[in-house]
Amino acid sequence: MEADIDRVLISRQQIAQRVRELAEQITGRYRQCPGGLVIVSILSGAIIFLADLIRQLPLPMKIGLVGVSSYPGCNTTSQGPELLRQLRVDIRNRHVLVVDDILDSGRTLRYVLDELRQAGPASLSVCVLLQKPGKFPPDLAPDFVGFDIDDVFVVGYGLDYDDQYRNYPDIAVLKRELYAAADKAKTAGA
Ligand code: IMP
Ligand code: MG
Repeated sequence: MEADIDRVLISRQQIAQRVRELAEQITGRYRQCPGGLVIVSILSGAIIFLADLIRQLPLPMKIGLVGVSSYPGCNTTSQGPELLRQLRVDIRNRHVLVVDDILDSGRTLRYVLDELRQAGPASLSVCVLLQKPGKFPPDLAPDFVGFDIDDVFVVGYGLDYDDQYRNYPDIAVLKRELYAAADKAKTAGA
């Protein structure tokens, strides 16, 4: 895995520090919420961020998971969101915080928020670990953000390329030839 990495963009220590800060902000916002919080997270990229974040939130909560795929296989551009797993937690009149790994084009988040709104939550907020500023519409700006990053395709800390590298502990950029090989194969119809 190490041999495939071009450079580390955000180290595990920086991530851990920022997750602590986000947890404090979120705790401050929801401490007084009657009935607690429902965290809705988007599989699969958010799994590691979710696991680290929720263990630092001393709040009553339920966790719900939705499955959305936007970048199937060797894709580094969004192919449009597709719902793979529905939410199984009732969010009517509950305070909902959506937790996701990265906000890129915003298509995934828009799709998930539209679905959740139909279920009548008391409030709906968003926390993302990473965002690529300028790539998503301004009305999607999240309430809580870990880091701004440039428009590069990143892996690690839950984020994948072709379902690999999710277990890499830092957020990193792969060597260019790995993406290039997949792009070439796609163009050739492989
Ligand atoms: P969007 O719909 O373009 O905003 O993309 C949202 C989803 O695509 C994210 O939740 C990720 O799961 C995935 N994604 C977007 N950018 C990246 C990236 O740079 N690396 C890995 N996955 C990404
Ligand atoms: Mg995701």
